[in-house]
Amino acid sequence: MNQTVLLKLVADGHGNVATRLSASAGISRQAASARVSAAVRAGLLVRQGVGRGVRYALAETHRFEQHFERAGLSEDRVWRSLCAPVVADLPSNVRDIWQYGLTEMINNAVDHSGAAVVRVGIVRNALFTQAWVADDGEGIFLKIAKALDLYDPRESMLELAKGKLTTDPANHSGDGIFFSSKVFDLFDIRSGALHFMHDEGLDDVLIERPKDAPGTLVLMRLSNQSTRTTKEIFNKFAAPDEFTFAKTIVPVRLAQHEGEKLVARSQAKRLTMRFERFKSVMLDFDGVEEIGQAFADEVFRVFQNAHPETRLEPVNMSPAVKDMVSRAKSLVL
Ligand SMILES: Nc1ncnc2c1ncn2[C@@H]1O[C@H](COP(=O)(O)OP(=O)(O)OP(=O)(O)O)[C@@H](O)[C@H]1O
Ligand SMILES: [Mg+2]
Repeated sequence: MNQTVLLKLVADGHGNVATRLSASAGISRQAASARVSAAVRAGLLVRQGVGRGVRYALAETHRFEQHFERAGLSEDRVWRSLCAPVVADLPSNVRDIWQYGLTEMINNAVDHSGAAVVRVGIVRNALFTQAWVADDGEGIFLKIAKALDLYDPRESMLELAKGKLTTDPANHSGDGIFFSSKVFDLFDIRSGALHFMHDEGLDDVLIERPKDAPGTLVLMRLSNQSTRTTKEIFNKFAAPDEFTFAKTIVPVRLAQHEGEKLVARSQAKRLTMRFERFKSVMLDFDGVEEIGQAFADEVFRVFQNAHPETRLEPVNMSPAVKDMVSRAKSLVL
């Protein structure tokens, strides 16, 4: 039995570790305790508390954190000096993902936040590495809402999820967040009271930050043994035989504000905004129970007729959604 079983068990919960190990590995309680002690001695786990209250956590094997003045900061230098050494012995695909994600997010803070200071941190344990980039600037959701004249900063999340969103088209293309959010195991942006792709798995104590802090915080996590590659993620969203960003997947539920139904043409127009920049848009209806006739008509007939070169592909439809979509599609010219 290798140590991964034990380490994963600790990542899932900090208490009753020896008991849980003995059950899941089919070994005696004594043998399980011995393994736990060996992992502590090896510096992979830390023990907290005593007796029945004893708990274990994955030990941090590396931690770096630093503040930088934003003005004049170059992302590749931060990567090389602070972050690259932490992941230097990991597989090359994992190092490439960290280099991509960290340089993209640091570049975002430098180019878009207007903040005075940028903080970058990275921590590693035996299973995974986590990193964050935080600034005290304008705040990503507010910035996007202002630039796109959105009514509610929550609508910024829908726009970010679509991809190809940039508020500075002369210097940027809107790739960074879209691809970073897909290449990591966990990816979370916090700004104001909003979370983009929040995942409970991300460690809330990783960085202390009041809930209403100004600016933007991006958190990323990746398994140290991940087999994912940046290339496979780029290819997934490229047209066949092309290397350009041509396809996207849009979670339709992001167009639905709490307690609302998707019925209006104006909601549909917000959903389809910028779809014409893609050759193919997969509409993921997960979490959407039903849609109204005018909404469906606007997306699947009006938009489709106006932009026949963009293929719309609805997936995860409930029977009610499917009915509405079929009806609208049957009227397409
Ligand atoms: N730290 C930040 N503070 C404020 N706004 C941000 C921040 N990071 C990103 N943004 C906003 O989010 C948009 C999307 O970011 P993203 O990295 O996806 O694209 P981009 O930086 O514009 O283009 P690219 O990454 O391809 O160079 C940016 O154009 C900017 O408006
Ligand atoms: Mg960017």
